[in-house]
Amino acid sequence: MAAIRAETLHRPTLNQKGFPLNPNIVPLPERRETDKAPWWQEAVIYQIYPATFKDSNGDGVGDVRGITQKLDYLSDLGVGAIWLSPIYPSPMKDGGYDVADYEDVDPQFGTLEDFDTLVKEAHARNMRVVTDLVMNHTSDKHPWFEESQDPHSAKSDWYVWADGKPDGSPPNNWQSFFGGPAWTYSERRGQWYLHKFAPEQPDLNLWNRDVQDAMVDAMTFWLERGVDGFRFDVIDHTFHAQDLADMGRNPRYQEGQEPIEQFDWREKYLLSQAYDFIREKIVPTLEAYGAVSIGEIRGGDMAHLVRIHEAGVHLPINFDFKDAPFEPTVLKRIADAYAAALPNGEWATVFGCHDSPRLATKIGEERMVIATVLQHTLPGTPIIYQGDEIGMKNGYIPANRHRDPQVLRLGVEWSRDPARTPMQWDDSQTAGFSTEGNGHLYLPIGDNRNGLNVREQEKYPDSLLNLNKALTRIRKENPALREGRYVAYTMEDNNVFAFGRETDKQQVLVVTNFSDEQERLRIPDNSYGVRLFSTHRDNGESFVAGSITLEPRECCIIDLRPVLHKNGVAVA
Ligand code: GLC
Repeated sequence: MAAIRAETLHRPTLNQKGFPLNPNIVPLPERRETDKAPWWQEAVIYQIYPATFKDSNGDGVGDVRGITQKLDYLSDLGVGAIWLSPIYPSPMKDGGYDVADYEDVDPQFGTLEDFDTLVKEAHARNMRVVTDLVMNHTSDKHPWFEESQDPHSAKSDWYVWADGKPDGSPPNNWQSFFGGPAWTYSERRGQWYLHKFAPEQPDLNLWNRDVQDAMVDAMTFWLERGVDGFRFDVIDHTFHAQDLADMGRNPRYQEGQEPIEQFDWREKYLLSQAYDFIREKIVPTLEAYGAVSIGEIRGGDMAHLVRIHEAGVHLPINFDFKDAPFEPTVLKRIADAYAAALPNGEWATVFGCHDSPRLATKIGEERMVIATVLQHTLPGTPIIYQGDEIGMKNGYIPANRHRDPQVLRLGVEWSRDPARTPMQWDDSQTAGFSTEGNGHLYLPIGDNRNGLNVREQEKYPDSLLNLNKALTRIRKENPALREGRYVAYTMEDNNVFAFGRETDKQQVLVVTNFSDEQERLRIPDNSYGVRLFSTHRDNGESFVAGSITLEPRECCIIDLRPVLHKNGVAVA
C-alpha cells in the first residue's frame, strides 16, 4: 500500500533569471490567520466571452442582456464573480481586444444602460462583475491613434513611433505574437508603429505619463459604474525597451512553440517598469474602490509572477495547469512551486480560457472530473472558462469562418476560435445560444451539442455541471478549501496526486486517482477523517481511518481529524 508524507516547501530565490528586477519592491507580509481572506480569494470566478455566451436579440452575436438573462444559471452554479472579456466599441479584429473607446459598450453587445442593469442584477445575487482592461494597445480605429499619426498633434507620443532603417525596412527585428514583424508603416506619419499583436492593435506608449493617466481614467469610469475590478490584459507587456535594439535569437527554441519563441522577446517586452506602473497608478486607483486586479501574465518565470503580485496585482494568473501535460507528477510540481512562491495562495487558477484549446479536448472527457476537482480544491482562485463546466470541446470552424487574427499570420492550426464557439445551452439548432440560424452566428455551434449542453446536464446528478455545483458548495462550506495553506505530500504512487489544505481550525486532504486501477493509500500519520465528498460514492459523509481505497479515477475530499491519545493509545 502506498503512503503519502507531508513535506516542506522552500520559497525559491526570486531573482535567478530573466529581466531587470526592481530592488525597491518590498515583499508583502504573509497574511495572519485572523485576517479574513478577501472575496476574490474565496469566490469562484467565471469567464464570459461575450460574443458567444448568449444572444438575446437574435443578431447572432452574444450580448450584455444575454449575460443578464443567465445570471440565475451562474448563481446556481455557485459563481461569486464574472469576468467579461471586452465589450467596448471595437472593430473586432481581435475579438474586442482591439478597443476603439474605453468608455462605452459596443452596440453589438448593447448599451451602457444594459451594462448598468447587468451590474445591478449581478450584485443583487451577491455576484461581482470584473471587466477586461487592455492597456498595452488600442484599436487602430481609436481616435487617439488617428490623432497620433499627426507628428505635431498633442498625442504624437501616445504610441510607439520610430524611423525605419535607411534601406526602408522596419526599425528593428522585433516580432509580433501573432506572427511577423511587430512594426507597420504609417504613410500618414512617415514612420513605423509598434504592435506586439496585430497591426490593427498599435501599442500605446506607457512610458508617457499622460497615457498612464488615460488608463486610470478608463478604470475610474468603470469603477464609478460599479464594477468590482479588472482582469488586466497582458499587464506585464505594457512597456517596451527604449533602446529599440534587435531581439537576440533564442537558442532554446523548440519546434511547436509559438514562432515568437525563436527570439528573446522577453528582454524587450517584459520590463520592470510595468511593476512601477502597477504600484504607482493601478493600485491606488483600485484601492479607492476596494476593487480586485487579476493579471494576465505571459511568458515570464515564477520570479516575474511574484514581482507582479508584490507590485500589487491581487491575482496573477497561473496558466501552468492549462499548458502543462495533465499528469499527477507534473501538476504536483506546479502546485508545489506556486505554493512555495506565494504561500497565501493569491493567484488565479486557469485550466482553460479563450486563448487555448478546450480543456476537454486537451485532456479527454474522462479526465474532466479530476480537473474539475483540482480546480475547485487547489489553492488559488478558480476561474472557470464558459462551457468548461459542462466539458465543451473544440468546435469545428469551416475555413471561411475563422475570426482569430492569428489565422491570417500563423495559419489555421493556431486558431483560437474552436475554443470560442457558442455556449451550448440545449440541443436546439443554435444550442439555445441564439434565435438565428447557425450561418449567421458570430462563430458556428460546435458539432457536439447533443448531450453536451446545460439542459441535458441539469438532469443528471453525476454530470460535470452538477459536479461543479457540488464543489462550489463544498468550497463555500469549508474554510480550508477557500483560504487554507497548501500542504505538499511526497507520493509513493505516481498515479495519485494528493495534497492538503489547512487553516488553524481545519485540515483537509484531497486525493485524486489518475489511474484506471483501484489504488490503496495510507493516509498521513495514520489519521482518520470524514469523507466530505467523493466522485464515486453518493453516501454522503463517511468515516475513513488509516487508509483509503480509491476507485479508478476517483477523487475524494477528506476532512482530517487529529488522532487523540489517551494513555498512549490513539483514540478517535
Ligand atoms: C490577451 C488576450 C488575447 C488577445 C491578446 C491581445 O492575451 O487574452 O485574447 O488576443 O491579449 O490583446
